[in-house]
Amino acid sequence: MKIILYMAISVNGFIARDNDSTDWVAPTDWRELSSLVSKIGTVIMGKKTYEFSEDNFPYGDGLNIVMTHDKSLVSSSPKLIFTDQSPQEVIKLVQNLGCQNLLIIGGGKINSAFLKNNLINEIYLSIHPLILADGIKLFHDLKIEKKLKLLEVKQLPENLVQLHYSVI
Ligand SMILES: NC(=O)c1ccc[n+]([C@@H]2O[C@H](COP(=O)([O-])OP(=O)(O)OC[C@H]3O[C@@H](n4cnc5c(N)ncnc54)[C@H](OP(=O)(O)O)[C@@H]3O)[C@@H](O)[C@H]2O)c1
Repeated sequence: MKIILYMAISVNGFIARDNDSTDWVAPTDWRELSSLVSKIGTVIMGKKTYEFSEDNFPYGDGLNIVMTHDKSLVSSSPKLIFTDQSPQEVIKLVQNLGCQNLLIIGGGKINSAFLKNNLINEIYLSIHPLILADGIKLFHDLKIEKKLKLLEVKQLPENLVQLHYSVI
């Protein structure tokens, strides 16, 4: 199984403003994300990302998994799972459901939980042409280092640069 992380970031590595706003994320980025979601099918996110998704939720037609300890969240569809399982257990669950690949779409806490457990194979960063004053980091409270191998660089409309890495 290939586990891929996709994130829109500012030049200084933030994925949202302090107040959680992502109004700076370009329409081009949403199109790129949407095309990856269609290709991969299964998407996983943290509760906060779920809460801030609004009209974008659910992502694509495949399985959407939301990591949360909030027991008040109950799924009304087989295509939506709320889980408090560990990243490793979630991977097993996804494999048992026959999913080939998994797309992590944030936020910083979930990104970190998967990276810390060596559960990310590839990373797409869509770098936006701005520097934010402060905000939510790409990886929350990481405290480890990882080496990456550059696979591709793409220049996109709206002054975006997309970097595609594999995690070594
Ligand atoms: N730029 C981008 O591409 C992009 C993409 C996605 C999100 N964002 C932004 O990122 C921000 C959200 O990021 P965030 O780091 O604050 O939050 P997050 O990672 O989206 O969600 C964190 C929440 O997920 C649950 N959680 C975390 N680890 C868990 C685990 N191991 N098991 C079970 N549940 C777990 C917890 O919820 P409970 O308290 O319910 O347990 C936790 O409070 C938002 O502002 C959003 O707009 C930006």
